[in-house]
Parts: sequence; C-alpha cells; structure tokens
Amino acid sequence: ADTKVYRASTTAPVNIAVVKYWGKRDAKLNLPTNSSLSVTLSQSDLRTLTTASCSALFPASEGDSLLLNGAPSDVSGARTQACFRELRARRAALEGADPALPKLSTLPLRLVSENNFPTAAGLASSAAGFAAFVRAIADLYELPASPSELSLIARQGSGSACRSLFGGYVAWRMGAREDGGDSMADQVAEASHWPEMRALILVASAAKKGVSSTSGMQQTVATSGLFKERIATVVPANMAAMEKAIAERDFEVFGEVTMRDSNSFHATCADTYPPIFYMNDVSRAAIRAVEAINAAAGRTVAAYTFDAGPNAVIYYLEKDAEAVVGTFYHALGGVGGWKTGAVEGLKQLVALE
Ligand code: PMV
Repeated sequence: ADTKVYRASTTAPVNIAVVKYWGKRDAKLNLPTNSSLSVTLSQSDLRTLTTASCSALFPASEGDSLLLNGAPSDVSGARTQACFRELRARRAALEGADPALPKLSTLPLRLVSENNFPTAAGLASSAAGFAAFVRAIADLYELPASPSELSLIARQGSGSACRSLFGGYVAWRMGAREDGGDSMADQVAEASHWPEMRALILVASAAKKGVSSTSGMQQTVATSGLFKERIATVVPANMAAMEKAIAERDFEVFGEVTMRDSNSFHATCADTYPPIFYMNDVSRAAIRAVEAINAAAGRTVAAYTFDAGPNAVIYYLEKDAEAVVGTFYHALGGVGGWKTGAVEGLKQLVALE
C-alpha cells in the first residue's frame, strides 16, 4: 500500500480593493453584482502560508481538517466544501486519464495555515487564506491550472480571494455566465509597473467586524436604492478610470477614484435599512488627516480606502512618504489611542490598541 505523505506549501498575499466588490448576484457560487479591482500587498508584510498534505495513513474517520494559526478551524461550511469539491474533481479527472497517478483525490486532506499578521486585526484575511488554501491543494494534486483557473475556485471560498492569486494590480471580472465560469481574476499590471506604490495600514480597532461581508452584502442588495445606482453606473465608470490611471501611473486619478469608490461603498451601507456602519470615529479622523495632507500638498498624494471594518488603508507613492506618513502621525497625534511611536520604514502596520 502507498504509505507516503504527500505535501505542498504555498503563500498568498492580502489584497486591498480600490474598486470594491460589494453585492452577490448568486450567493451560492459567490458571483458578484459588479467587477472590482485591487492592489496585492507585499508578501513580506501580509500573507498566509499554507501546507496541504494527504496520505492513506491519515484516518478516513477524521475527514478533512484545517489548523488555522494553531487552532482547529471548521471546514464544514458550504464555501470551504465547494473548494474541496472543485479541487478533488479536477484531481480525479487526472487520475482517471492516467491510472499510474497516485489516487490522492479520495484521501483526507490536512491543511495547516499561518498568517504573519494578527487575524483579529480585522484585515481581509479571508482573501489570502482561501487563495493559499486553493493553491496549496492544487499544487499537492499537481493540477495544470493557471492562476485565473484557480481564481475561479478560490472565488467560491471568498469572493475577494480570487484576486489574491495574482500580484500587482488585479481585476475580478464579474462575468455574465450563470454557472460562474467567466467570473475570475486577471492581472491588470505587475507590481513592477508602478514600483513606487506604498500602502500604510492603520488599525483603528482590532475587534472583529460587526456585520460579516456576506450578510452586509445581502442586506445592501435587498434594501439600498443607492446600491442600484452604484452597480449600474458608478462602478463601471470607476473600473474604466482606474484601469487607465494604473496604465498611465497617474496617482492623482488613482487616488481620487480609490477614495470616491470607498465613499460610495460605505454610502450604500449607510443606505441599507437598517443602516450598516463599518467606519468609526477613528476612521473618520483618518479621512480628515488624508484631506489635510492632500490640501497641504496641493494635490492628491494620499488616498484612503476602508473595507467592511474601521481600519484604513492609505495608498501613496514612495516619493511622498514623508508628507504622508510623517504628517499622518502629526495630524493624528491628538486622537486618543494612536500609537505614534511605531513609525519606521514605509509600509507600516500600525496598531491603535
Ligand atoms: O471576500 P469577501 O466576501 O470577504 O468580501 C470582501 C468585500 C470587501 O473587502 C469590502 C471589498 C473587496 O472588494 O475586497
């Protein structure tokens, strides 16, 4: 009998959207109501490392398992199960075509996953998590799948995860097909296309977010009138402007569209009934600080964006680091809880609490 332990490891980075995914047209397949675009952060800053293994030695009674940051994590959810199913089906097809291949598709899978940043920080850890999860198993199964094909599978785990299969600037095209076969990510530009780009992350609260993205989206789609306008006209215009700004390395447009799109997304949340508020007083102080920085510079040198939580991500160019990072701390010095001693280097994960 084959008593080998088969193993593969991979890492996937966090991505932060500048045109937000918000709304599902199919909750089961995680099909979005609009396309989105993100910047993948440097792996040395924020990433998930995942090892997938399988063996006939693993007791079948234990089934598939996931250890996340040292603690057992539930894998019975529909989204995780969809990823397992998709990956196993592809491996089974390979095994069917080549009887010499070891039969891995029927063995229990063990996954071990570690984030190099605090999961509790409320950052988009599910994106890096599902991207690493899917690629680790795809590598273990030696699937001949392109990043875009893997993005189709990762999308079913967490929508934003499909964008973490690529580095640099990444678009998730919403697609038109009912089966989701064309709802996947592609790379708009390599990170090296715009090497001066930086992201500063401000942790306004380490508390777990109040309303999950899934229920927030569901409530927004069901009750916000403003949301209809967002997906019909605002997002298509922002996608086109953003792709052009990236191609031309035009930070002023990149920054303005980033801020407007974040504002638009949070406006639809406030327009749901009952309203959803992801930003808090510290988030709003961060917005005012960015406005002060841009006013002092006389142009857009910093751009804020917020996901489904209060933490700010500030994009800026390296040449403006002093104006942005320096002024940020000066401007926020008076806000209770800002940890001002932590500034060193440019890409900062700054804890507030
Ligand atoms: O991937 P999800 O289902 O957690 O949704 C992410 C939604 C936002 O982070 C708010 C926006 C985005 O495009 O990442």
